Amino acid sequence: MAKTIQAVRGMNDILPEASAAWQFLEDTLRRVIHSYGYREIRLPLLERTELFRRSIGEVTDIVEKEMYTFDDRNGDSLTLRPEGTAGCVRACMQHGLLHNQVQRLWYAGPMFRHERPQKGRYRQFHQIGVEAFGMPGPDIDAEIIMMTAQFWRALGLEDAVLQLNSLGTVEARAGYRDALVDYLRSRENELDDDSRRRLDSNPLRILDSKNPDMQAVIAEAPQLSAHLDDDSRRHFDELCRLLDDADVACEINPRLVRGLDYYSKTVFEWVTDKLGAQGTICAGGRYDGLVEYLGGRATPAVGFALGLERLIALLEVCGIEPRGAAPHVYLVLSGEQAERHGMVFADELRNAVSGLRVQTNCGGGSFKSQFKRADRSGAAVALVIGDEEVERREVTLKPLRGGGEQETVSRQVIADRLRELVAAEQIRDTAG
Ligand code: HAM
Repeated sequence: MAKTIQAVRGMNDILPEASAAWQFLEDTLRRVIHSYGYREIRLPLLERTELFRRSIGEVTDIVEKEMYTFDDRNGDSLTLRPEGTAGCVRACMQHGLLHNQVQRLWYAGPMFRHERPQKGRYRQFHQIGVEAFGMPGPDIDAEIIMMTAQFWRALGLEDAVLQLNSLGTVEARAGYRDALVDYLRSRENELDDDSRRRLDSNPLRILDSKNPDMQAVIAEAPQLSAHLDDDSRRHFDELCRLLDDADVACEINPRLVRGLDYYSKTVFEWVTDKLGAQGTICAGGRYDGLVEYLGGRATPAVGFALGLERLIALLEVCGIEPRGAAPHVYLVLSGEQAERHGMVFADELRNAVSGLRVQTNCGGGSFKSQFKRADRSGAAVALVIGDEEVERREVTLKPLRGGGEQETVSRQVIADRLRELVAAEQIRDTAG
């Protein structure tokens, strides 16, 4: 037999067993984001390659080696989006959303990076991102970081740690860069190949190196904080005060530099030690220069993105297992009349009882096999209709979980019973 076709490496199916957790995660995040008054923007998966080259930076890992880039039939170079910020800025500029107004936006969807797949790192992964435009002060930085803290509260996650740093303005960073390169050159024989390569192109990224042999050199490197300009320092101090007022604890990490070039001033990451090497669940910062750099009017901006696969993994590690949406009712049909009538009856039930989930047996089968399917569906009750019941306008209700007697009742009574079932589930959900 021919080998069946498999998914592309690093690109995962999300199977029905997993989708309850995804829905819980996405619904919870969306609810929190909306509670801050952010509005959704939906963006294409494909953009012109140039957009990412210019915004993420030519000498970043993403642009140098991770983009899915191809020429389309017209010979235009297009790229599957590796992240959402660049496309969001492009769309805002194209549609005039940044003229004399502020914007609070969010987006969700798959991103694509040709990385080496491993636990927590995939080639297609999902982000929810938030971007705020037109607000220069530390108040909006504090708002979006407070929003991230609310995510963890709403999800029941307790031990993510917030790391915070300021990269300063582009000019301040240029001064720091010179000092750093001088230092690194003085210890060039201790650098690994990757770092030596980055010495001229992107020396700040050397600070991010995970190579244990590099840690001594990194630890003694000059610190960016010593080169911060006054405005960035004030901005950072005020942000720290606002977070303190809001009881959002943070660790200042002077080595936090981020892997994308567009940042200035505030950068932050939420990390957990429960996921092994890929422990960053949320990351972002301020990118005041990007809109102007891409040809728009200078517009301050700040945002972040969450890695949903990592959050799903973290929910699982923490034992937070949302219940799936199994049907309340499985409709067992026996006889010609019942089979003819079943679909319509199921719709009557759905219309009569708000929130009711009904699965109707399709494709016939013996009583026994229908009950087997009913059980596998996870339904709380089976409703049985035979030809006689159709005639008498009755239904037999058989609880499938937690015991209880089978009973035959009129169609009128059944809707009330099912309403009670749905209400009981809602009460359980709010209590849990
Ligand atoms: P990023 O740090 O590249 O930032 O990605 C944000 C998050 O996406 C990461 O912290 C991680 O949770 C998740 N992530 C990244 N790559 C992968 C991967 N290969 N597999 C699984 N998860 C991954 C950005 O993308 C910026 N656009 C964030 C931002 C928005 N900054 C300002 N606004």
